[in-house]
Amino acid sequence: MPDISANLAGIKSPNPFWLASAPPTNSGYQVMKAFDAGWGGAVWKTLGVPVVNVSSRYGAVNYRGNRMMGFNNIELITDRPLADNLREIEEVKKHFPDHAVVASLMVQSRAEWHQIVKDAENAGVDGLELNFGCPHGMCERGMGSAVGQEPKVIKTIVGWVKEVAKTPVIVKLTPNITDVTVPAVASAEGGADAISLINTIQSIVGVDLDRFVPTPIVDGKSTNGGYCGPAVKPIALNMVKNCGQHPGVTIPISGIGGIENWRDAVEHMMLGASNVQVCTAAMHYGFGIVREMIPGLENYMREKGFQKLNDLIGIALPNVMAWENLNLKYDVKAHINAEKCIGCQLCYTACDDGAHQAIALPTNGSRVPEIIEENCVGCNLCSLVCPVEECISMVRKDDGKQHETWGDYMANGKAPTTFNDDRAGGKGHWVPEPVAGLKK
Ligand SMILES: Cc1cc2nc3c(=O)[nH]c(=O)nc-3n(C[C@H](O)[C@H](O)[C@H](O)COP(=O)(O)O)c2cc1C
Repeated sequence: MPDISANLAGIKSPNPFWLASAPPTNSGYQVMKAFDAGWGGAVWKTLGVPVVNVSSRYGAVNYRGNRMMGFNNIELITDRPLADNLREIEEVKKHFPDHAVVASLMVQSRAEWHQIVKDAENAGVDGLELNFGCPHGMCERGMGSAVGQEPKVIKTIVGWVKEVAKTPVIVKLTPNITDVTVPAVASAEGGADAISLINTIQSIVGVDLDRFVPTPIVDGKSTNGGYCGPAVKPIALNMVKNCGQHPGVTIPISGIGGIENWRDAVEHMMLGASNVQVCTAAMHYGFGIVREMIPGLENYMREKGFQKLNDLIGIALPNVMAWENLNLKYDVKAHINAEKCIGCQLCYTACDDGAHQAIALPTNGSRVPEIIEENCVGCNLCSLVCPVEECISMVRKDDGKQHETWGDYMANGKAPTTFNDDRAGGKGHWVPEPVAGLKK
């Protein structure tokens, strides 16, 4: 059996599946129930000076029958007394000494950071997660994402925490920033032991068309919230990858965002995450989802011959590169499996209106469309819109012997552009040739 035990900067857990700091980790009752179900760790709902929350708090994007494809919340950190949370953390650690319990923290002054770090560690936590990511409510008070967007402030606060912390310090990053590697590098330089990402993305999920108010509605008004759930996984994966590839991010990564099953978790880990955290899926389906995540991960690792998590962590990173390094000679064309085709002709419509007019309506009396290979650029659109799995496949047509990147293409003098190197930084850019004969 492969070993799925995880180690994030010295914080050990029996498996890589942690609950993220959020309502599922709001109390000792919930965290113990989650550990009983099989979760390997939990980041406690953010502790700080308790707040008052509003009602209601959540909104969602449903897409074509998929409930809560995206989830939105406007709640703040814990509204329970600090002493209650700390007592329950102590209790959880007593019952589950081998599980990871991490305290998520958010306060303001140096003295407050010192105090809450000491309190959390006295309660027995295995690590600390600094919430520099919450993009609603707390950021207006100078905390959460207001910190995560300022590399200097990140370094300052990490420094304060490290002055007293005895357990590993994780910085939780906000995705509400142009380049997530900037705060990631600042965290590493400031002395953090790990980063976790992503927190939620600032969002408005919809507007009530009768009341003219975005949702969720609080007494006729609303505010922007934080977006998460399956819809954000692609954004999270890209950010985890960016951190995983950045030479300045010298500390391990905890991957968060849109994880619902073992496959999502493996994707995060293949792009550099040492473990993963889950929020929305636990809120949607309950703690029981981990009962499929554990054997799913174990079976996958066994099939692929991975003996421990380190064998797969970051394994996909060398396969992600800048666009200009991709092989321009690789050539695929669509192929329709006539036996699977249900004749809906969605592929024809999508290709004819939205792509390259490479699919024709059938001329032989059937409803199975025909591929016009000379027009097909292998874009995938037809296979993506096809409602039948594996009905349209992309078949390789080049002989696999040639390899030409955009860099090679330009070096060979083939570019239909001229090079202008007057841009700042001397990087230059490619300028289209002027088009003759157009009216001014
Ligand atoms: C209702 C709700 C409350 C949350 N509260 C916190 C919080 O107190 N502290 C924190 O660091 N993140 C909080 N988050 C963010 C999650 O921990 C997580 O980063 C985010 O939801 C992305 O993961 P997911 O796609 O699995 O939900 C909250 C998320 C939700 C939905």
